[in-house]
Amino acid sequence: DSMKEVSGASLLERTIKEAFSLSEVIVVSGDSDLSPWVKKEMGRASVACLKKYLAPEENIVAVTGGTTLASVAEMMTPHVKNHKITFVPARGGLGENVKNQANTICAKMAERSSQDYRLLHVPDQLSDDTYRSMIEEPLIQDMLHLIRSSNIILHGIGEAMTMAKRRQTSESDLNKIKNGHAVGEAFGYYFDQNGKIVHKVKTIGIQLDDLNHNKYVIAVAGGSTKAKAIKAFLNQARNSILITDEGAAKELARDL
Ligand code: BG6
Repeated sequence: DSMKEVSGASLLERTIKEAFSLSEVIVVSGDSDLSPWVKKEMGRASVACLKKYLAPEENIVAVTGGTTLASVAEMMTPHVKNHKITFVPARGGLGENVKNQANTICAKMAERSSQDYRLLHVPDQLSDDTYRSMIEEPLIQDMLHLIRSSNIILHGIGEAMTMAKRRQTSESDLNKIKNGHAVGEAFGYYFDQNGKIVHKVKTIGIQLDDLNHNKYVIAVAGGSTKAKAIKAFLNQARNSILITDEGAAKELARDL
């Protein structure tokens, strides 16, 4: 029976890979909505995948926040080869709890793998003026360069309304997200089911356009309730690497 499960997962992987023109798809068993350990398995698979894509010497790995990426950090282990990694947060504050913030996750990944990290300190709610003068600061500019030069990005994908609520989004932005029929969110961008951007949280760091340039982009997201969100993101992303679970994968493959 376990053989059947293995081939079932690899069929799902192949189907999703082809349907969304992805460069790799990994499906772990189970549904993280139902069993918390499945998130850990996705974390484990993500760590293995990250190691596979590391460049021989220097690496800048940009990571986002979220509970899924926090699981990736929990499963992080040192690497046996001589790669060097600097972990950086992909974008500035997006309104998460400390333990789910990109800064926290990136420090933890570095600690657990005995590598380096750099943090980005930008508050969440800034006036336009403060924001503009802040990003002119030389130290912030240096960090932005580093982040944009990342060769690997590890990111989560969220269900749009879940993320909007978790971030204490303002009434007017909430309306924009609702009226635009957003179903998915990644990097602070909200997408409708076709992958069209309907709203974007203002912060610095990786912008969606940056994803197309010489980077391995690894999305980690699972659970059947995230299927629509994952699909929305994949509809505007190409050549991404997706690490997911059967719960989401079955839903993704169902309505192809
Ligand atoms: C957030 C990221 O921290 O985590 C979002 O900024 C992402 O882009 C979200 O969608 C995913 O969260 P979780 O807890 O579902 O992994």
